Amino acid sequence: MKYRKFGKLSWEVSALGFGAMRLPTEEKDYGAIREAEAGELIRYAIDHGVNYLDTAWIYHRENSEGFLGKVLSDGYRERVRIATKMPTWMIEKPEDLDRFFDAQMERLQVDQIDFYLLHALQTDWWDNMKRFHYLDWAEKKMADGAIGHLGFSFHDKFSLFKRIIDDYDNWTLAMVQYNYMDVRREAGLQGVQYAADKGLAVVVMEPLRGGQLAKEPPEDIKQILETAAPGRSAAEWGLRWLWDQEKISVVLSGMSTLEQLKQNIKTVESSEIGGLTAEEHTAVNDVRKAYESKASILCTDCRYCMPCPQGVGIPFVFNYFNMVRIYNDLQTAKAYYAFMGEDSNAANCTMCGECMEHCPQHLDIINLLKECHTLLHTEKAEEEEKR
Ligand SMILES: NC(=O)c1ccc[n+]([C@@H]2O[C@H](COP(=O)([O-])OP(=O)(O)OC[C@H]3O[C@@H](n4cnc5c(N)ncnc54)[C@H](OP(=O)(O)O)[C@@H]3O)[C@@H](O)[C@H]2O)c1
Repeated sequence: MKYRKFGKLSWEVSALGFGAMRLPTEEKDYGAIREAEAGELIRYAIDHGVNYLDTAWIYHRENSEGFLGKVLSDGYRERVRIATKMPTWMIEKPEDLDRFFDAQMERLQVDQIDFYLLHALQTDWWDNMKRFHYLDWAEKKMADGAIGHLGFSFHDKFSLFKRIIDDYDNWTLAMVQYNYMDVRREAGLQGVQYAADKGLAVVVMEPLRGGQLAKEPPEDIKQILETAAPGRSAAEWGLRWLWDQEKISVVLSGMSTLEQLKQNIKTVESSEIGGLTAEEHTAVNDVRKAYESKASILCTDCRYCMPCPQGVGIPFVFNYFNMVRIYNDLQTAKAYYAFMGEDSNAANCTMCGECMEHCPQHLDIINLLKECHTLLHTEKAEEEEKR
């Protein structure tokens, strides 16, 4: 295993971390973890040097934390640091902070949570946490020893990412969605650099875009990659590109099979900072351009169209639509669209046109939203069946 600096801490983190959000489960039931198989994965990872595990209240329909608690109870707990997260959008009153935290300690069977993160911060949820004086509460938990260090995971624009970092001096880590396709989305490369330069450990989630970058690529992209490094798998390309970067501390992978875990361990062991050649960097840039050229809605995610008076998450809807065109992944796009919830999907558009007055790309937003909803909307029955 390769180890890296973890921000300001003297502790070193394994460059490969384990994300407990995609554990093997029974078919059609994301909540039913196949415990024997998943337990073998976690132990194998730790036995091969992984020392950072990531979970959250909601993963596997709230079963991920409890499962980790069981798996780690016989000596493995001491060999790793555990990160879990406060479900920011579920906090409705100050007492909720203790309610969730106490339940998480119990589920994980620990007397300290090493890294406690605010989950999936975006504007509303950060403001919500500040309203409940979260940082004062968390500082007390650190003083009591119940929390080791604080961090946050993030899904919004760089400007908010910077504001959150600047709002508090004692963050230890920031967790960002970052991969070779998302360098200009969300916190992006700018966020990685900003956080690292401020002394935070950068934890990468969705390094393979939730698996989209691990799939067999279309022929044009395959050719670019094969020419630069014959025989290298798509997953290996995605991970090597990340481990090439010094500002990243740990790359979390959501590995669901032993084979994936073994491959990723092999990849991390042969990766290094600055390890990609100039030709390989050019290949990745060409691949990004080739993928981006497949997007059919040319939304740049500037969000000038927001907020929509009806609450439609316009750039998110367009992103999911493009996901179908770029990665040929209708199933994931539909799942994300369903996760947005009925209140913010494209069906809420009343065709007022306010968004179109602000769109610098002059997109025909009203008609595009209709098109997106037709493609992405999943009937309830279909959704239930998938579960
Ligand atoms: N805080 C947040 O908001 C947030 C959001 C997302 C994720 N996370 C955390 O970050 C972790 C990592 O994100 P992620 O799970 O999306 O990671 P990811 O690595 O982008 O995607 C994981 C998927 O990639 C595929 N994969 C991984 N290694 C592979 C290999 N060697 N060969 C082929 N396919 C491979 C698998 O897909 P298949 O299963 O389809 O084979 C796996 O399920 C999560 O597990 C979770 O802990 C946090």
